[in-house]
Amino acid sequence: MDVSDEYLAEFNENLRKWSVKKLVTYVQCDAADLKGIVADEFADMVVSYRFLEELKHPEDMFKIVKEMVRMVRKTGKVCISELSTEAKNEAEENYIRLHRESGDSFFKPTEIIKAMQETSLRNIHVETFETNIWFSPELAKQELSLTQVWFTSEEEKRLGSRIDEYGMKYPAFLLFSGVK
Ligand SMILES: C[S@@+](CC[C@H](N)C(=O)[O-])C[C@H]1O[C@@H](n2cnc3c(N)ncnc32)[C@H](O)[C@@H]1O
Repeated sequence: MDVSDEYLAEFNENLRKWSVKKLVTYVQCDAADLKGIVADEFADMVVSYRFLEELKHPEDMFKIVKEMVRMVRKTGKVCISELSTEAKNEAEENYIRLHRESGDSFFKPTEIIKAMQETSLRNIHVETFETNIWFSPELAKQELSLTQVWFTSEEEKRLGSRIDEYGMKYPAFLLFSGVK
């Protein structure tokens, strides 16, 4: 589900490419209130990928985690995957700054864990997955919307020279999981 249709063409293309069109349904709605759209305890697992970082209303984060918990069955799992904001080098710092400075709201891990605890999830774990996704300075200058990298002229002014020097790299991913 997504409140916008920004990724819809890419999403449909992936369904076609992997021949899973019949298995997947796209719902356009606000994840902060899915009552009447998705039934209680509907799913074995509820998963989000790089979602909280781009919330249109960051103040809704708790409501959204609560909805994820409502939709999962008893003993089912909620998994939230977000970028770490701890940069290990200049290239990771560039990638994080590009997103943060374009308005993304990176929550602290403690804030996500607190929301999971307050919605009564148990066995909460945070795992870190290192990535090896680099954008060389030359690559970082290309059209990268497929890899979810966009520049405005403002960002170019602020970060252009750093990216020319170091390129960019995905930081680690943090996978937060809990059981209902
Ligand atoms: C970084 S994108 C992640 C896209 C997708 N998970 C993927 O891997 O391609 C974050 C998405 O969250 C959506 N979004 C933000 N706030 C939302 C909300 N309250 N309810 C549903 N979707 C929302 C945005 O429209 C955006 O498409």
